[in-house]
Amino acid sequence: MEILSSFIVFEGLDGAGTTTQIRNLAKYYEVNGRRYHITNEPTSSPIGTLIRQILQKKVMTTPDALAYLYAADRSDHLYNPDHGITRLLSDGSIVMSDRYFYSSIAYQSVECDRDLIERINRFPSPEFLIFIDTPVDECMARIEKRGGEKELFDRAGFLRLVRENYMRQLDALPEGVHLLVVDGTAGIDDVERSVRSFLAPFSL
Ligand code: TYD
Repeated sequence: MEILSSFIVFEGLDGAGTTTQIRNLAKYYEVNGRRYHITNEPTSSPIGTLIRQILQKKVMTTPDALAYLYAADRSDHLYNPDHGITRLLSDGSIVMSDRYFYSSIAYQSVECDRDLIERINRFPSPEFLIFIDTPVDECMARIEKRGGEKELFDRAGFLRLVRENYMRQLDALPEGVHLLVVDGTAGIDDVERSVRSFLAPFSL
């Protein structure tokens, strides 16, 4: 199992707070003069843009087709010769991603065959996985508060199944992946402190 050193992935349900936390960690690296790169999935590539249109219900497709798109977006995200994650890591940057293949296993497995999703998501593991664990009801309240149109997966019943799929993955991580599960209701500063003390022993 290949592990990508200095690659940090944030995962959680919609509304869990991954975007806030990844930005705060990036600010910390900025202040400390570390070389870092912050990124997310779906990406801003043409494939990622198509995925966002599907999530916003502007384009319709099937769950399987969407799963293949996420996997294609991820392959480009990792291996694009110009700006791919592996390229950035080999240039000595810390790379932080808001979501990675764990999202596909958690979300797409609800509607698609789990074996298919696992098969098309055989990508290298990150060295660090941070799961922000925010209860479904709290996530739904935050999504409501944010306003705007609900996206494809913003439903409590769906997110409960997604959470179960996340938990199953966290219980079976390969050796070499360092996991932090942090309580997403603890408050922004407390979560940030937990993330930092988790990474500090690794000089990150
Ligand atoms: P999200 O991080 O919520 O994007 P944003 O908040 O910036 O709009 O991700 C978009 C949605 O895509 C979210 O519902 C999770 C879902 N998703 C999958 O279903 N599979 C995947 O592989 C990824 C990366 C995301």
